[in-house]
Amino acid sequence: MSKFYVTTPIYYVNAEPHIGHAYTAFAADVLARWHRLKGDEVFFLTGTDENASKNVEAAEKAGKPVADYVREMSARWASTLDSLGVSHDRFIRTTDSDHVRGVLDFIEKVKAGGDIYKGKYVGWYCTGCEAFVTESDLALGKCPIHQKPPKKIEEENYFFKLSKYKKQLLDHIANHPDFIKPVIRRNEIVSYITHHLEDISISRQGRRWGITFPGDDEQTVYVWFDALVNYITGGKWWPADLHIVGKDIIKFHCALWPAMLSSAGLPLPTQVFAHGFFTIDGKKISKSLGNAVDPVELAQAIGLDGLRYFLLREIPFGNDGDFSLERLKLRYQSDLANGLGNLVQRVLAMIEKYCDGKIPERADGSAAPTWQSYELKLADCSFDGALTDVWNLLKTLDGLIDREQPWVLAKTDPERLRRVLYTLAESIRHVAVLLWPFLTETSEKILDSLGVLDESRKKPYDKLKSWGLLAPGTRIKKGPPLFPRLT
Ligand code: MSP
Repeated sequence: MSKFYVTTPIYYVNAEPHIGHAYTAFAADVLARWHRLKGDEVFFLTGTDENASKNVEAAEKAGKPVADYVREMSARWASTLDSLGVSHDRFIRTTDSDHVRGVLDFIEKVKAGGDIYKGKYVGWYCTGCEAFVTESDLALGKCPIHQKPPKKIEEENYFFKLSKYKKQLLDHIANHPDFIKPVIRRNEIVSYITHHLEDISISRQGRRWGITFPGDDEQTVYVWFDALVNYITGGKWWPADLHIVGKDIIKFHCALWPAMLSSAGLPLPTQVFAHGFFTIDGKKISKSLGNAVDPVELAQAIGLDGLRYFLLREIPFGNDGDFSLERLKLRYQSDLANGLGNLVQRVLAMIEKYCDGKIPERADGSAAPTWQSYELKLADCSFDGALTDVWNLLKTLDGLIDREQPWVLAKTDPERLRRVLYTLAESIRHVAVLLWPFLTETSEKILDSLGVLDESRKKPYDKLKSWGLLAPGTRIKKGPPLFPRLT
């Protein structure tokens, strides 16, 4: 049995979750579910990043004590992820006492390695990014992401000797081509490390919120130096196999974090995969623009599986992409309702009509090529690729029906008809298993309609992937359409 440890970034609680956040969580969730299906020991970590200045600002705006505000918002995030079917094993809050203790221990290790010193920070801080920024990060004096000028800061801080790790980081990246994916982000990081890596301030002076810096009551731990450690404090083991992150936070995950780990004498995660950014109808998702689509409302309108399918199928993971309700409805109709849903209904109807509603005797076949390709794609976070493989199989099955014309075979060659119907039904069982990590509810419905018993669903992965598991004589149960018309 292998182990698989996957994480999402922990979310700031200064605002409600939107579909951009759901996207990161869905991607990690699919991988967690796939590895569980494979029989691996999986740990899937997500949670909330609560010690940030932007949370304090949001609490002040809401007129609430910070601790109350972050507790309420964190609960909102947790329930959103639950409603979205995200199957994490732990939801960590950076205000959890085990996390706070873990951060203090971590800093002690870094201190012991001689990598922390006190100095004066004079420069800029962007609260939106929760990052110390330099002139080169700004466009016309503003943060290009948050479109706001950063705050000028002059304070005594503790510094981390990040620059000391320049060569070590570059060597690691060169020797581990899969450490940062996709390649465009790896190149970005290599250039950043080569030209801009500097020591970084890891504390803030005179703040009331956050983790108190060990040995200095005047300072709190810089929020990223605290948040990144969640991957250790919240995990069951270390290192993680995969951190899934958005492209906006790769410097922290691919430069700062590995340097912190090296300093503490800990191994590095196997991979950081950075996905792109969603826009909505061409515009950045933001509260002020009023386009921050609530993923739970959307899932209620279109079905959770419809939403998960669309987000992971529409945009190749790693690329930027646009989200539009129109595209969502189109794909729902063409791929899910007319594609998958229709095929399943047709096959079930033919088994009812021509085989007395029972699975006919076994016929030869194989879904192995689809499985092979699908597994390679999933191992590479190519969610759209894996789904395309499944839809290619559906196309082949549609083609088989068109070619064989079961309604003609019913009159001319009943034996062949039964073979064709077995092949179709067994292939649909494979489709259900292939889709299980993505569209769990739909997958279960398909297996229900094929009469697949609970114990057959829990068979080892290799068995599930093998041909012929569908037992002849099993009674099928044609249910309501899998993807009803959208209103
Ligand atoms: N708190 C930090 C992460 C700390 S991890 C140790 C953070 N939080 S966040 O709430 O701002 O973002 C969480 C994730 O959501 C990030 O991966 C970010 O890239 C992603 N997204 C936020 N908006 C997004 C889109 N519009 N599109 C796609 N993903 C987006 O960063």
